[in-house]
Amino acid sequence: MTRVFSGIKPTGHLTLGNYLGAVRRWVEVDQYGTDALFCVVDLHALTVDHDPARVRRLTRQAATLLLASGLDPELCTLFVQSHVDEHARLSYVLECVATDGEMRRMIQYKEKAALERGRGGSVRLSLLTYPVLMAADILAYGTHEVPVGDDQTQHVELARDLAVRFNQRYGQAFVVPRATHPKVGARIMNLQEPTSKMGKTDDVGPGIVYLLDEPDVVRKKVMRAVTDSGRDVVYDREERPGVANLLEILAACEGGNPEDLSGAYESYGALKKDAAEAVVELLRPVQERHKALCADPAYVEGVLRLGAEKARGMARPRVDAAYRAIGLLSS
Ligand code: TYM
Repeated sequence: MTRVFSGIKPTGHLTLGNYLGAVRRWVEVDQYGTDALFCVVDLHALTVDHDPARVRRLTRQAATLLLASGLDPELCTLFVQSHVDEHARLSYVLECVATDGEMRRMIQYKEKAALERGRGGSVRLSLLTYPVLMAADILAYGTHEVPVGDDQTQHVELARDLAVRFNQRYGQAFVVPRATHPKVGARIMNLQEPTSKMGKTDDVGPGIVYLLDEPDVVRKKVMRAVTDSGRDVVYDREERPGVANLLEILAACEGGNPEDLSGAYESYGALKKDAAEAVVELLRPVQERHKALCADPAYVEGVLRLGAEKARGMARPRVDAAYRAIGLLSS
């Protein structure tokens, strides 16, 4: 059976980008007919300046939102990364097949390190080694497919490279994974800055739609989205990034194609209005279920406990085998 693994980082509130680029496909496609694991990757949230209480709160919130979005613990395994030691254990061994040059070439490292330095802060070593931990997340489970948004492609490529390199040097230990992306919605842009990705921790807050935003907040953010000069509604990501983003959001919400939709609109205002309502309707059931789940934190904790037990059982044999293969004595 196809093994699927993906994760989400509790560094901020989940966004419409997370939902359209990843979570919705996990819910609607990936958890069916596969052996799927989904993980709140809390260790990754420690790679930049963080507040411990906030990370704990966001970890619980992300898990609750994933259940509210429709992940079904009967169909998939949902757990928190730090509850399964195998991730950190394997990460160290993979650091011994990765190179520092490879790490320094990672686009997200370059961007985030520049941001930290720009704020006068220092760069944590874990930010540099982040992609190795991510490779460990994936490789520990013999993962075939990693459903992610576009921005994670380079990291999944690294996981592939490390798997191949390890297998060649030390014997066949890992499955070589591949990234999968949704047809529409793999890169949702910030509404105020449509040439940048809509990220959880961006400074441009009014351009980010959060999954828990009230309907009126969503409407306001979408209606105020930056559009381009020109009047006709055409889908052109290069020349008209603002309008293209709105078309992409609307198409992703409604299951259509952004190019086809562009013909249906004569004004930016009408497009914004429909996009806003489509997002409100998309989020409504998620928000309702989230409210119900918040009233039952013991249920969420139970799901995570069971998920971690299952995940541990799946990861341990492969990580043990990798330890032996690379030259460590079994205990
Ligand atoms: P993270 O937490 O930034 O994002 C979670 C998922 O959401 C996707 N995504 C987007 N998709 C479309 N448009 C956007 N604006 C947008 N923003 C985020 C991401 O591509 C991702 O699929 N490094 C990962 C977490 C991770 C992981 C893993 C993923 C750690 N280990 C192992 C897969 C497998 C990250 O920071 O995702």
